[in-house]
Amino acid sequence: MPRHVAIIMDGNGRWAAARGLPRVEGHRRGVEALRRTVRAATELGISVLTIFSFSSENWSRPPSEIGDLMALLRRFIRKDLAELHESNVRVRIVGEREGLERDICLLLQEAEDLTRGNTGLTLVVAFNYGARQEIARAAQLLAIEVAEGRLSAADISPELLGSHLHAPDIPDPDVIIRTSGEQRLSNFLLWQAAYSELVFVPINWPDFDRAALEGAIAEYRRRERRFGGLVANTGS
Ligand code: FPP
Repeated sequence: MPRHVAIIMDGNGRWAAARGLPRVEGHRRGVEALRRTVRAATELGISVLTIFSFSSENWSRPPSEIGDLMALLRRFIRKDLAELHESNVRVRIVGEREGLERDICLLLQEAEDLTRGNTGLTLVVAFNYGARQEIARAAQLLAIEVAEGRLSAADISPELLGSHLHAPDIPDPDVIIRTSGEQRLSNFLLWQAAYSELVFVPINWPDFDRAALEGAIAEYRRRERRFGGLVANTGS
């Protein structure tokens, strides 16, 4: 079983369009798929589930859709936080808090604070998240340390830069799943994806369920992970 599964939840709009429904209906059904997936991940014994909920680039969408996504996040935390807490889920948030409405920041903080001591599934919500922004921020933090004389530039290593990312204690994803058939990372976990297996699933996110998650994990398990080394026991 992979320890850390990350998901790009794509295709809500196409799911809705195919049914003649407004895009927001796709996002609403997307939240239901998220609930199913959190439950399935817990049952399957996965340690960390990271979901791409709102990207730094999603601000370019029409204001009404941005409003819908913010409203869904508010409702998700208000409605589901107690149940997540009861299920021993620990919620972590990665992304920029700056630029978010104050009440959203407070809700995100509340979710992290309430569940901090939980020991079951860690649900990492990437919200207002962009990987290049995350890496640039780590570079800024290192630059400050160098400027203040606390660090020598020559000592900057991949490990040190990695330790300045949003959630350095969380292991890299073993597998990144993207739904809807699109095959790209779209600025998601670029640093952490160095050795992740990528699994592209041809269904839209609102149709994702436990069977789809198990199918993606089966595909991951068929892959051979070498981390730049050689195949074990072949002598080649
Ligand atoms: C991609 O579908 C999905 C998103 C941009 C947001 C994902 C959001 C949810 C699943 C619901 C919100 C959940 C929380 C916790 C806020 P798309 O709109 O890009 O679909 P398309 O490519 O078919 O248009």
